[in-house]
Amino acid sequence: MIDVGLKIQSSPAVITIDGPSGTGKGTIARAISNWLGWHLLDSGALYRVLGLVVRRDRLDISDEDQIASVASNLDVSFVGVEEGTKVYHDGLDCTLAIRTEECGIVASRIAVFPAVRKALLSKQHDFRLSPGLVADGRDMGTVVFPDADLQIFMTASAEERARRRHNQLKGNEICASLADLSRDIKERDERDVTREQSPLKPSQAAVILDTTAMSIEEVTDKVKILVRKRGLT
Ligand code: DC
Repeated sequence: MIDVGLKIQSSPAVITIDGPSGTGKGTIARAISNWLGWHLLDSGALYRVLGLVVRRDRLDISDEDQIASVASNLDVSFVGVEEGTKVYHDGLDCTLAIRTEECGIVASRIAVFPAVRKALLSKQHDFRLSPGLVADGRDMGTVVFPDADLQIFMTASAEERARRRHNQLKGNEICASLADLSRDIKERDERDVTREQSPLKPSQAAVILDTTAMSIEEVTDKVKILVRKRGLT
């Protein structure tokens, strides 16, 4: 007989951080994974790499089956470096290429397809390795790791998120106007929240953190307190 309870208990620990774009979840996930010495999964990067391939190969963005088939064979790797994480697709560095707004929009559009989400699910589960995983995205707590040891849902006002995205893109030397970013963020939020499959929403177990008026250090400290309270250190 298979002891399912024992199997779940012995799986490496997971902390999930979900929320819309620009809440700072990626930055916080990296800080917490470094602090704990755990693995990191930036699930949005998987959808973005797929978006990049769809754009590069001029695939039909409405062809769910074809995009899902590309997703099942997607060769993505993440390599930790001093400045953060480098993302490789088929061995080529695409760290900056996937961060454009266009790529984010395509990622959000293909993320509505159930077959695409299913194809990326096992890739995300593969990141659950010892001693633990910090995973950030939209459905980490609700769908991918529902048994996570700590689930956090980050929010921030749309204006503040657009401002943060603007600074982040400027840092990567990618041009985008604040007005265009605000509009794109609102459209992307709408699509991510209203899609039928794995919509962006807090799970019942999630601790909600509104980061609008908080600095990165304040949010990191708050999350560290939650991690300690759960006995995960
Ligand atoms: O987090 P991000 O901005 O890099 O994500 C880009 C898009 O990918 C986002 O708008 C929706 C999609 N996504 C998703 O549907 N589920 C995830 N777990 C992560 C990202």
